[in-house]
Amino acid sequence: MNEVTSETSAEDGLQDDPGFTGCVTDWAPELEHAFAASPAEGDRLIAVEGELPSFVRGSYYAIGPGRFTVGGVRYGHWLDGDGLVLGLHLGVAEASVDGRQARVAHRFVRGTKQADEAAAGKALYRTFGTAFADDQLRRGLGLESPTNVSVHPWQGHLLAYGEQALPWRLDPVTLETLGEENFGRLSPASPLSAHPWLDRLTGGLANFGIGFSPSRPTLTYYRLDAQGEMVVRQRHALDHPVSVHDFGLSERYAAFDLAPYVLDFASFRSGASLFDALTWMPELGRTVLVLDCETGSEIARVPMPSGYCLHLVEAWEDGQTLVIDMIEMEEPIYDQYSVPELFPAARSSSVVRYRIDPAAGRMLGREALDGEQMLDFPISDPRCAGRGCDSFFASAISRSGQPGRKFFDRLVRVDWQAGGEADAWQAPTGTYLGGEAGFVPDPQQASEGAIVLPVFEPGANRSQILILDASRLAAGPIARVPLPVMLPPLFHAWFEAAP
Ligand SMILES: [Fe+2]
Repeated sequence: MNEVTSETSAEDGLQDDPGFTGCVTDWAPELEHAFAASPAEGDRLIAVEGELPSFVRGSYYAIGPGRFTVGGVRYGHWLDGDGLVLGLHLGVAEASVDGRQARVAHRFVRGTKQADEAAAGKALYRTFGTAFADDQLRRGLGLESPTNVSVHPWQGHLLAYGEQALPWRLDPVTLETLGEENFGRLSPASPLSAHPWLDRLTGGLANFGIGFSPSRPTLTYYRLDAQGEMVVRQRHALDHPVSVHDFGLSERYAAFDLAPYVLDFASFRSGASLFDALTWMPELGRTVLVLDCETGSEIARVPMPSGYCLHLVEAWEDGQTLVIDMIEMEEPIYDQYSVPELFPAARSSSVVRYRIDPAAGRMLGREALDGEQMLDFPISDPRCAGRGCDSFFASAISRSGQPGRKFFDRLVRVDWQAGGEADAWQAPTGTYLGGEAGFVPDPQQASEGAIVLPVFEPGANRSQILILDASRLAAGPIARVPLPVMLPPLFHAWFEAAP
């Protein structure tokens, strides 16, 4: 492996291990090692093993929580860790154009939280799941984000997002943090979700933010054009200050699943973690808010059956019907995110297709592909995103139905025509999925492509990035890039194909 730039050591030098203390049965032995030490940053050329398809040319990015101890504070929730970004460049000038070498960089985001805490030499800010004595909030109102949820290219940079905060601009190759992005007019206090919707065809961007005021909760919808100009900023009153993580965008509509996961703002202001201040209140009902995606004006509030959706698969239109495909659970999942005892309960999810008549403001039907597995991090072929895909890919937990610590260890393809799982790659025992998959379209063949998938093996202290044939997951990887350090499991990813 060749050095491209210098490699720095972890700032905190954390080597102690939180250990595993909890469950009756442990289906993910040694998982705790992945959260024990913050990985060294690096930027290297690494030989690609196997045969990389000629169309796999571009950059895969993923981001997630990478540092779980700051000063003397150890974070107890998966959402707490400081954002770590992974960049993999294949078949492009930053690596080697013949695809035989990949350039791999991994670097922490240096936002306000990280910069302030590095300067102070200790943890200063409360996080989603961890409160401590004298912890601080951003302007006394919200979390100072660890910037650890999602990443995508924008205006020649990368944008790295945390929950309900402005994103940070990064260099797309070195991943260095360049500054906070306010889109020209947003104040630092403006809440923005970590699930922006970037239109790959037009270059436009849509997003939303929740205002958790107990007396006047709101959802604000934003739309930016391809030049980065904010063209829509429309605020809507909510009945309750609910947590909304994701949304769907179809040709004409923006859809928000307002499930009753309610924030007690007074409790949060008085010292509770955000997780402890959130309560699942199904008695309040669930509504889908439908907006005109071009103007942001309200079209309908549609009563829905009880359920909780962390991630939509996609929203699309079938004639006058708005269709929302989602991964639905009975209740929120964040109670299963304790580190390192993840997913201890026996839980499953369903893949659900809702049909909604926006003009009438009512739900027309619910079709469920009942599964026994917990699925998350759905991705689709970007060529059909927003227009209805026959199938999508997701991370899955094979031991979902059994109590005991476990983690994502399968990549599945769910097919609506087949009525469920149509293909899957099962990780070997002791290997787990290291982040959301990226889909690389094959420009020569519609609906064909490749999957980029990081995996980690905590018992062996190593990570690698796998390339799979998207149509033959079960056949296993066709190429791989071994990483110089083990990275903890990351959250969302983006593949940007080379022009
Ligand atoms: Fe997410």
